[in-house]
Amino acid sequence: MTPGARRETGHLCRRAPPGMGQDDRVTAPDAGTRDTGPRDVRDAETARARETAPFDLAAMRKHYRAEGLTEADLAATPVEQFARWFRLAAAEAHLFEPNAMVVSTADAEGRPSSRTVLLKHFDEQGFVFYTNYGSRKARDLAENPYVSLLFPWHPMARQVIVQGVARRTGRDETAAYFRTRPHGSQLGAWASAQSTLIASRAELDASYAALAARYPEGEQVPVPPHWGGFRVVPESVEFWQGRENRLHDRLRYVAGPDGGWRVERLSP
Ligand SMILES: Cc1cc2nc3c(=O)[nH]c(=O)nc-3n(C[C@H](O)[C@H](O)[C@H](O)COP(=O)(O)O)c2cc1C
Repeated sequence: MTPGARRETGHLCRRAPPGMGQDDRVTAPDAGTRDTGPRDVRDAETARARETAPFDLAAMRKHYRAEGLTEADLAATPVEQFARWFRLAAAEAHLFEPNAMVVSTADAEGRPSSRTVLLKHFDEQGFVFYTNYGSRKARDLAENPYVSLLFPWHPMARQVIVQGVARRTGRDETAAYFRTRPHGSQLGAWASAQSTLIASRAELDASYAALAARYPEGEQVPVPPHWGGFRVVPESVEFWQGRENRLHDRLRYVAGPDGGWRVERLSP
């Protein structure tokens, strides 16, 4: 299955998502409630305070009222369970880019790094994303294929964490996906040597303009050899459901040697 979320058509959820009450909204501390002077002075103070005062992060918390997640609710495989939650995230909670995930890698010395990437396909074979093979993440994965994918579905008080091993997708699969990308994104994959230093924005724009002249709209753009997919084969997948009083449900599928899955419950 291919996630149906499209960047152009995504929209923010305006109604309270499942599991959230009206009073769950986080509000910025309001510095404008003091009555200490003329209105324009107070307005200026308020504006300054809003610019300079940090949010009171310690006081920012939501109360999760969602239904729990029980062992009996779970699908037979983590990918099926992911598909159920993904469908709800995309279709009912209307999450903006539910296929956005945080991909964490570590280099050969164990130094971690994280970034957001879009999930482009998932099935029982794994979770696929596309990137530049010269990027930091791809260089990390060449040295150390262990990876973590985190889906932060906050409006639903849910989180999914996939841990597994990443392998490059085959060239045919990469080419098939590359052909579905908009022309401009295809050129962008050529124009950017992702994660390398560049002198200026102008350099990037010039590189794109030269490519756009070489491959005008309608002309087939070759698949860049330095660009392609990674398929993450899961070794464990945790489904986290926020519950009241921080007594969250955490159910984790762990791959067994026979290809089956064992489910374990973690303390929140
Ligand atoms: C919402 C969102 C989606 C992104 N999707 C991708 C993607 O699919 N592939 C990609 O290579 N970078 C994507 N990026 C950019 C990455 O976060 C990151 O900047 C880039 O991949 C370079 O990361 P690296 O230097 O750690 O390898 C996305 C960023 C955001 C915020």
